[in-house]
Amino acid sequence: MKQRVLSGMRPTGSLHLGHYHGALKNWVRLQDEYECFYFVADLHALTTHYEEREVIEKTVYDMVIDWIAAGLDPDRSTIFIQSRLPEHAELFTLLAMGTPLGWLERVPTYKDQMDKLKDRDLATYGFLGYPLLQAADILIYKANFVPVGEDQSSHVELTREVARRFNSLYGRSPKFESLVAAALAKLSKDDQRYFEKQRKAYGETGDAAAAGKAEALLRRAAEGTAGWTDEDGELLSGHFKGSGKTILVEPQALHTEVRKLPGLDGAKMSKSYGNAVLMRDTPEEVTRKVKHMTTDPARVRRTDPGNPEKCPVWDFHKIYSDDATRDWVVKGCTTAGIGCLECKQPVIDGIVREQQPWRERAEPYLTDPKRVHWIVEVGTERARTVARRTMKDVREAMGLGY
Ligand code: TRP
Ligand code: SF4
Repeated sequence: MKQRVLSGMRPTGSLHLGHYHGALKNWVRLQDEYECFYFVADLHALTTHYEEREVIEKTVYDMVIDWIAAGLDPDRSTIFIQSRLPEHAELFTLLAMGTPLGWLERVPTYKDQMDKLKDRDLATYGFLGYPLLQAADILIYKANFVPVGEDQSSHVELTREVARRFNSLYGRSPKFESLVAAALAKLSKDDQRYFEKQRKAYGETGDAAAAGKAEALLRRAAEGTAGWTDEDGELLSGHFKGSGKTILVEPQALHTEVRKLPGLDGAKMSKSYGNAVLMRDTPEEVTRKVKHMTTDPARVRRTDPGNPEKCPVWDFHKIYSDDATRDWVVKGCTTAGIGCLECKQPVIDGIVREQQPWRERAEPYLTDPKRVHWIVEVGTERARTVARRTMKDVREAMGLGY
């Protein structure tokens, strides 16, 4: 049984190379090892773009096409649209009841973004709730891992706190103890003893290794134990942590090392700053944009030596060039042996080469958009099956089972 990965992206504009190298490339890689759920976070886009929703509508399917172009495989990954599953909004509402206001006000991105996006009015209830909606996204699929940038760590941390609080508030039904005993009885005598031993160790010292061993045992049990159900796993996992049944699973952030690609002017790459190379830019556009890129300001004339560390083109070489080319850049730049246009050519070639398979993979979907609608349709229904099951548990746990 594979562990589950979930991540989302806001449809607020065309995808660029920063999205690809910062996130998407990693999403593609994770498909080999995990069961992956990837979704278009259109509700999240609305929290900031509620006055200009046209861009969201325009971007949704284009974004999915770019995902597929980059290598997401709809047969292996579940691809869907957040707003098509009202369960996200429902869980958000239910979690909101017991979430202290301070938890949300203290999330660092809250004040940061309010300051950064000064041209928008973000003093809204929806924007304050952004991280809680994200928690709902993650918890509804019981995701184990969430690949996100460092800036999103606090959101995953909040998600863990929300799950913990939910489980301790609602995970202890009156029948809890007897259900635990029945689940334990399905394990072999040796496994029962082993599990209880790890539980003791964890309870006394918070021993993380013990938690790992118990989790491994439960995963093994899920594969080969007669009469075992997912609920047995949830009960024992809650029993282990002393929290009651694990209705919501605490996820972990997955910060895989990604190499940052700055924009054409050295600032963060963003379409709204006009410094982005888009995944769909034609070779001509790529050439024009890179040729106009900012370089080390010390190189005013061709004869002035420069320093690659002060030049955003160098960050591109780190991604697109081999060692030999990079040596050539360092030598040529610091001795004024090469000109900046010359230096940029291998970057242009590298980007165009990288884009080629994207263009080929995207082509059938661009000519026949129904194909991408269908992929999203299938993904949405697959996601719905999981979301419904979680919501049934959540409603019952909160006493809404009538
Ligand atoms: N907040 C994320 C971002 O801005 C997008 C997002 C929404 C997300 N819901 C999520 C990411 C759930 C991971 C999991 O990038
Ligand atoms: Fe940048 Fe290359 Fe010009 Fe040096 S030679 S300043 S690294 S573009």
